[in-house]
Amino acid sequence: MGLIAQSLKNSSPMRWPTRRTPQPIWTKSVGRTEIRHIQSLLWFLPSVYPGGDSWLANRLADVIAGKAYCSIGGVGGRLGGVLIETPKGRRHSKISTFYVHPCLRRLGIGSHLLRLHNGRWRSDGIDTVHITVSAECLNPLGAQLAHAGFRGIDQVPGRYREQSIESVFQLSVH
Ligand SMILES: CC(C)(COP(=O)(O)OP(=O)(O)OC[C@H]1O[C@@H](n2cnc3c(N)ncnc32)[C@H](O)[C@@H]1OP(=O)(O)O)[C@@H](O)C(=O)NCCC(=O)NCCS
Repeated sequence: MGLIAQSLKNSSPMRWPTRRTPQPIWTKSVGRTEIRHIQSLLWFLPSVYPGGDSWLANRLADVIAGKAYCSIGGVGGRLGGVLIETPKGRRHSKISTFYVHPCLRRLGIGSHLLRLHNGRWRSDGIDTVHITVSAECLNPLGAQLAHAGFRGIDQVPGRYREQSIESVFQLSVH
């Protein structure tokens, strides 16, 4: 059984690592075989975003087609986080999904995922990266993005909920 499959199978909350039981954090670009594990990690998307399941299926199809980038990360033998990014032209990119499972937060997985993609942004000559964050996700996502050098540049009406506001964050890569 693969590392990730095993991690999803042994998902007892009693066995999640903590800062007191440090284990190596890993990140990797995903291939076709990991797609269903990402769908398991993001099972809640349809309840947060109407049509979130088909939206995710389309993003993952883009990843398989080489039109988007997706990485996963975890700690020890467990899958904990995912980052999906879609290039917008030659010099810009947009993060569409950035999520770490609540039981594995504050261990550094989010930072590792951002660092992995940051390396590619630099080598591919990407100038700016955007991410749009809904009000419900601003805490703690805003803190993580600030930690990684993103700054809030705009606020726009929420696409999915009336009277909701989404914050746009931007990273200037160089
Ligand atoms: C934002 C998120 C990705 C952070 O992942 P993470 O693995 O916990 O982040 P890290 O452990 O790498 O944290 C790095 C830094 O970010 C900041 N940070 C992260 N979470 C924070 C929080 N809850 N409060 C304050 N600062 C926080 C801190 O500066 C932290 O450094 P520190 O732990 O040394 O203080 C995670 O909390 C998450 O997935 N939140 C929900 C996101 C969401 O709803 N996405 C939309 C659905 S797709």
